[in-house]
Amino acid sequence: MSEQTLYPVPQHYAEQTLLNEEEYFELYNRSVEDSEGFWREQGQRLDWIKPYTQVKDVSFARDDLHIRWYADGSLNVAANCLDRHLAEHGDSTAILWVGDEPGVSREISYRELHADVCRFANGLKSLGVQKGDVVTIYMPMIPEAAVAMLACARIGAIHSVVFAGFSPEALAGRMDDGKSRVLITANAGVRGGRSVVLKENVDKAVALCCETTVDKVVVVNYTSDKVAWNPERDCDYGELVAQQSDDCPAEAMNAEDPLFILYTSGSTGKPKGVLHTSGGYLTYASLTHEYVFDYRHGERYWCAADIGWVTGHSYILYGPLANGATTVMYEGVPNYPDVTRVAQIIDEHKIDILYIAPTAIRALMAEGDKPVAGADLSSLRLLGTVGEPINPEAWKWYHRTFGRGRCPIVDTWWQTETGAAMLTPLPGATALKPGSATRPFFGVQPALVDNDGNILDGAAEGNLVLLDSWPGQMRTVFGDHQRFIDTYFSTFDGMYFTGDGARRDADGYYWITGRVDDVLNVSGHRMGTAELESALVAHQAVAEAAVVGYPHDIKGQGIYVYVTLNSDLEPSEEMRRQLRDWLRAEIGPIATPDVIQWAPGLPKTRSGKIMRRILRKIAADECDQLGDISTLADPSVVRQLIDNHAELT
Ligand code: WT7
Repeated sequence: MSEQTLYPVPQHYAEQTLLNEEEYFELYNRSVEDSEGFWREQGQRLDWIKPYTQVKDVSFARDDLHIRWYADGSLNVAANCLDRHLAEHGDSTAILWVGDEPGVSREISYRELHADVCRFANGLKSLGVQKGDVVTIYMPMIPEAAVAMLACARIGAIHSVVFAGFSPEALAGRMDDGKSRVLITANAGVRGGRSVVLKENVDKAVALCCETTVDKVVVVNYTSDKVAWNPERDCDYGELVAQQSDDCPAEAMNAEDPLFILYTSGSTGKPKGVLHTSGGYLTYASLTHEYVFDYRHGERYWCAADIGWVTGHSYILYGPLANGATTVMYEGVPNYPDVTRVAQIIDEHKIDILYIAPTAIRALMAEGDKPVAGADLSSLRLLGTVGEPINPEAWKWYHRTFGRGRCPIVDTWWQTETGAAMLTPLPGATALKPGSATRPFFGVQPALVDNDGNILDGAAEGNLVLLDSWPGQMRTVFGDHQRFIDTYFSTFDGMYFTGDGARRDADGYYWITGRVDDVLNVSGHRMGTAELESALVAHQAVAEAAVVGYPHDIKGQGIYVYVTLNSDLEPSEEMRRQLRDWLRAEIGPIATPDVIQWAPGLPKTRSGKIMRRILRKIAADECDQLGDISTLADPSVVRQLIDNHAELT
């Protein structure tokens, strides 16, 4: 379809880019033919306390799985993000913080950020935090969130950031899993003009923890909201740092020491603690940030994500700061106070690069050209997207409105597990096709395989795998290495399985077709259907539940829930509301179902397996494409489900 529309590299890029197309191919070929040599060189972009002599030590074999990069080197991630910039760029802006209310912003220089991080790092030490401890961060988008993450990195504590939109139950689960004893939060946050309770959620979460005892809760008293206070446990951030020195030596960390854990959903079980380490992760985050965004010193770069997701970790914080960039941290939402906010921020702060999720683009696109009405936008040089497939219409709208037809769009495909971008255009090197994440980044070896693991050549469609390691790869599932092996290395022998399907066209461009497992991507947020289902069946009224995704104009995928109530209960609007609230409370507002359909029964095979394929088709309004249903234990439930679906819509 849109395969024909090719957007060539604009002339002004071709003239002053880091790399043109020919140079990309040259460097890419080298990066895979001499992977060891390429990465030996790239590791040099960081400052090492003890230089590495080893580079790559990797095996993807199921029975001998190991992934180590730069394993005999040591460094400190925070020192690489701060200290080494002080001599030449100490007064450059590290973080440009933009508040929820228009007109409110703050610039924090590298020197100031360094001092703040050292003070808080000393504060954490004074609370007894040591190298290797897991510190949970549950924070709004305020500079202290970045300070907290970097302070952990400075002293070698492992941060575990939990998105501030998650419920107390979800927070407690993650604290328990990480055996985390220290938590950093704020009394409240502010988003879209509304207050977000945080400390109250934390108090509930701490009470729910059963595998860990939370000794200390550090609270940034950010808003004027009054919150309950436990003097034994709670500690005011301002008071804590006021007593500390701004000198804090950076801990020497082995390249393979953990930097952070970040929980993400899979097709089964509870969320997994994705573990990233220090040397390889930072090398990869910094390299991709520079090349994908063609970043030039002094530019203002805005990644409109939340630090609660990996995009925030790698592209608000670590990648840009390792490169001495000016990174924008925006507290609010794209449509507050109105839909022109994104454009206004770009004009007010003369932003050069905007990196934002397709779901936000589609939400703005629903307003026609209003989001850019009256805006100048001439400061913009480059646009990016991340988190889910972008439909060509939204791509073109973004290109025409925000990009004024002259800014390239880098559509970056990657995952929490991959640490940073994997398939992506490079703005000076790649002609673009709307909707395609185009080509692999340096060192990345994608392949498509059929369901038996046979590698497909040429133009093809299949399961997306990665054949070799890259330094930013996750190293394990925290506390459960077997689950790491089972999840990623057991489906296809000797390959990392992404869980995504993809198509490769005749030009070698990749088109992600979406997850092939039971993982949903709702507004760019990843959720396991199993997680939603187990939350639902924990409700006393629910006998059985099945959750599937269905196409949704703005969210990409919507959440479609089939519920069988206990036999003595009648479906009602009131029950629907209860179940919706239940999911919000158990997981968080991002888990709010879009549709709840009552199901007298679920379509199952004779062995009792739910046939989700059928449920997905019904939810997508494709009841004429159900395929073979003769293997069902009771085919008549399908008729019922189709009728109930028709009544709903
Ligand atoms: C899943 C990973 C990437 C960081 C934020 C999300 C989907 C991500 C794209 C893209 C098509 C994409 C994939 C992937 N995805 N980026 N550019 N085009 N799909 O990280 O929460 O770990 O989710 O998001 O399905 O597997 P995540």
